[in-house]
Amino acid sequence: ATVPVLTIDGPSGSGKGTISRMVAARLGWRYLDSGALYRAVGVAAGWADLDLDDHGALVRCTFDTEVGFRDDGRGEPRVLVNGTDATDELRTETAGAAASAIAAIPEVRAALKDRQRRFRQPPGLVADGRDMGTVIFPDAPFKVFLTASAEERAQRRYKQLNDKGVSVTLDGLLREILARDARDAQRAVAPLRPADDAVHIDTTGMDIDAVVEQVLALVKP
Ligand code: C5P
Repeated sequence: ATVPVLTIDGPSGSGKGTISRMVAARLGWRYLDSGALYRAVGVAAGWADLDLDDHGALVRCTFDTEVGFRDDGRGEPRVLVNGTDATDELRTETAGAAASAIAAIPEVRAALKDRQRRFRQPPGLVADGRDMGTVIFPDAPFKVFLTASAEERAQRRYKQLNDKGVSVTLDGLLREILARDARDAQRAVAPLRPADDAVHIDTTGMDIDAVVEQVLALVKP
């Protein structure tokens, strides 16, 4: 029998990461944070001082970058980039912006395709990203598209970063989120769009547990 997949796609700050991890834990399924792969390549490109316009170098960097996930059992898994724990660096806006630029290169997306599909292992997989339901796992039996207003997404990010002691302005974050949304939605390859068979959930004003229950109800009716 094929291994079931639940895809959770949506823009940054929609709550995908948190919801996906919680749902995966409740189901006892594996979890793929596909954004972390793009961010890891972005971070590795930064370490190597690569030019974000040098597509050839970025594609080679994608093949050369090893990404490992180490689950400490609770909360956010640690992400190792070429053996170095880069979890905190991966979460920065710099890494996000680099990831978004790199993610627009078709050869980079192609190079990461099989790596993502290999996460599909028993008893099941929760895959979080932008094109999980459309490109990577089009045959997934369960698909969710999560959204939230840009203002609410900026607020969530602001709170997250503030809690970590990172100083940012709400206004700056809102502008970055809108810019990244536009780039992710308008790129030629795998633009952010819901799969035709995805269930849409707008999480604006919803608390996390309510969203988790709604998603779980799809998988275990
Ligand atoms: O989800 P996250 O914010 O970590 O993703 C970072 C960037 O990686 C996104 O802005 C997007 O450009 C890219 N990405 C992608 N396809 C995915 C996951 C992320 O293009 N499946």
